[in-house]
Amino acid sequence: MFIVAHRGASFEAPENTLAAFSRALDAQADGIEIDVFPIQDDWIVFHDRYLQRLTANPGRLLDCSLAELKQMKVFSQQRIPTLSEALEFINGRCTVNVELKGADIARGLTKHLRHAIANYNFQPEQLIVSSFNHHWLRQLKQDHPEQRIGALTTACPLTYARFASELDAYSVHIDVDFVTPEFVADAHARGLLVWVFTVDEPDDIRDLKAMGVDGIFTNHPRLARNILEQLPV
Ligand code: G3P
Ligand code: MG
Repeated sequence: MFIVAHRGASFEAPENTLAAFSRALDAQADGIEIDVFPIQDDWIVFHDRYLQRLTANPGRLLDCSLAELKQMKVFSQQRIPTLSEALEFINGRCTVNVELKGADIARGLTKHLRHAIANYNFQPEQLIVSSFNHHWLRQLKQDHPEQRIGALTTACPLTYARFASELDAYSVHIDVDFVTPEFVADAHARGLLVWVFTVDEPDDIRDLKAMGVDGIFTNHPRLARNILEQLPV
């Protein structure tokens, strides 16, 4: 089962920072998931729309300039990286799932991904763009048919994974609370991988493995690796 470090190894270090990515690589995660928002002509790695929880600053992320965000620290410890800084640091050492939180495709997301492929040792198939906003994914896929995309959902729709195959997605990413064997079977019949978020509990890891899911997003990739190694293949 593919282990994706959710916001990096965010159990061990401040989420979505280089420290969390470093811990994820130490834990031999197969992938790292990051959340990104467009700021000016760049992309910033950050999960929340508001700054308070992560930086103790008031206000909204999207009201800040890049220069202001570069002065802030996540949990008083770690800088907020840009997408390119994150990709440069990870440097092709694992898959990266870029989750679009606030998107404007025209602002050059794919330019950053192409730059990473040319300069930071990534193969194109190591970069997967996902979002809960399927309109953004459809636009991205229309503009860049070669780009791997992951279709996110917190729901188990009546038509199961049909929405993801309509988007020509590589994978469907579903909330652990709503994934079912029927959903997994439907996705697999459509040729989609099933990745489940967010999974930190050993019992869930065992159940999902038995259900045949292909990957998990976890805050604790080291624990997940240990649990999986103890299970029969
Ligand atoms: O990409 C999986 C997961 O990160 C989606 O939810 O809120 O943790 O970004 P969230
Ligand atoms: Mg996310």
